[in-house]
Amino acid sequence: MMNQLKSGKSGPLKGIITVPGDKSISHRSLIMGALAIGKSKITGLLEGEDVLGTAEAMKALGADIYKDDQGFWYVHGVGIGGLCEPENPLNMGNSGTGVRLLMGLVATHPIKVTFTGDASLSSRPMKRVTIPLSKFGAKFDGADDGTLPITVTGAQMPLPIEYELPVASAQVKSAIMLAGLNTPGITTVIEKIPTRDHSERIFDYFGVPVEINGENIQVEGQAEITAKDMSIPADPSSASFFIVAALITEGSDITIKNVGINPARTGLFTTLIEMGGDITFENTRQECGEDVADIRVRYSNLKGIEVPHERAPSMIDEYPVLCVAAAHAQGTTVMRGIEELRVKESDRIAVMVKGLSSCGVEVTEHKDGMTVINSIPKGGMPIKTHLDHRIAMSFLVLGLISETSIIIDDCSVIETSFPGFAELMNSIGANICP
Ligand code: S3P
Repeated sequence: MMNQLKSGKSGPLKGIITVPGDKSISHRSLIMGALAIGKSKITGLLEGEDVLGTAEAMKALGADIYKDDQGFWYVHGVGIGGLCEPENPLNMGNSGTGVRLLMGLVATHPIKVTFTGDASLSSRPMKRVTIPLSKFGAKFDGADDGTLPITVTGAQMPLPIEYELPVASAQVKSAIMLAGLNTPGITTVIEKIPTRDHSERIFDYFGVPVEINGENIQVEGQAEITAKDMSIPADPSSASFFIVAALITEGSDITIKNVGINPARTGLFTTLIEMGGDITFENTRQECGEDVADIRVRYSNLKGIEVPHERAPSMIDEYPVLCVAAAHAQGTTVMRGIEELRVKESDRIAVMVKGLSSCGVEVTEHKDGMTVINSIPKGGMPIKTHLDHRIAMSFLVLGLISETSIIIDDCSVIETSFPGFAELMNSIGANICP
C-alpha cells in the first residue's frame, strides 16, 4: 500500500536514540546460523522486510528460525551442505543482498531453487553473481538479460574457483564466499578495491577457515561450524539519516547508541567531518567481531567538498543522504566515480537529481555522479521514491530544512530497512506527518 508522508521545517533535534540493527550483518547472521550445527541466538536483528525475507527463505531451505517474546531471535542450523530444496519459489522482495547471497549459498547445494523479487529487484543485474557461480558448476535459467526470476540448479559436485571481482561489490564477494562453504578445497576471491568485510568477519567468528592476504580472500570449504550467539550493532547506514538531520537542523544535539563503525562502512562519517560536521565517537568497543561506538552529532556549518572516488565503497549507500547535507553546505559538493548507484534499488543518480531539482536544489547530473550546490530547498511536486527506501528517507530529511514541506509519494518501502523511521525522527523533534 502506498504511504505518502510530508516532512516540514523542524527542530532542533534533541535526544539519545537507538536505530535498528545492521542490515548487512542481519542477513549474514541468519545465513550463518542456518549453516551452523546447534542453536544460535541473535540479539538486535533488524526486523525490516529485507531481513525477514531472508529469514523466511532460510526456513524454506530447512532451518528452524523463530523469535521469542523478549525480541531475541533463534536459528537452529542444518549444517553446511544440509540445505533442502524449497517447495515454492523464494520471493526476496526488494532485497539485492538477500537474493545475491542466497544464490551463492544454494549454487553449491544439489537443489533447485527459483528466486523472484519486486519490480525494483527484478530490474537489477544478476549476471554479476551468476557468471562466477556458474564456474562452481551451478546452472542458471532465466531471461537473457540476467534479471529475476532465475532458477538455480546447484552443482552436484562443486569445484572451487579463483575469481577476480570485476565490480567493487560485497554482495558478489559474499555470494562466492558462501558458495565456497560447501565446496571441497579452497575458493579464492580477488578483491582489488576493498568493500565491506562483514562476511569475512562473520566467517571467522563462526570458525570457518578464512584467510585474507592482501587482495586475496580464501575460504576453505566443508568445515563443520557450530552455533554462536550474535549481537548486531545498529546500522551505520540507517544512523546516517539521523546524523545528517542533526547536522543540518539548527540547534540539534543527538546521540545514537551502539552504531557499527566498521571502517569499510564509515566513509560518510569521514566525509561529513571533512565538511565541518561536529561528529564524535564515544565509548568505542568491539562486539562479536565488529567495531561499535555511540555517536554524538551537533548542528554544524558545513562546507562543500569533492568526495574522493576511492571512498565510494565505504559509503556506497550513503550518497542520497549526502546530497541532502550537500544542499545545506556552503559551496559545491562533487560526487563522482559512483556509476554503481545506477543499479541500486533505483537509479539513485537520476532519481536524486530529479527530486532535488524539483525541490529547487541546484544539482548537475553526470554519467558517474552528481554535483550539488548550496540551495534553500522547498516543496514542489511529490517526490517519487521508485521503491527505494533510501530515496524516501533522504527526502524526509531534506524536508526538515525546507521552506515549504516536501511530500514523498510512497514511504511504505522504508519498511525494508528501517521500520519506525518517521516515528523515531518525530520523537526527537522532526515534523513528519501523513
Ligand atoms: C551490501 C553491499 C552493498 C550495499 C548493500 C548491502 C551487503 O551492495 O549497497 O546495501 O550487505 O553486502 P554491493 O555489494 O552491490 O555494492
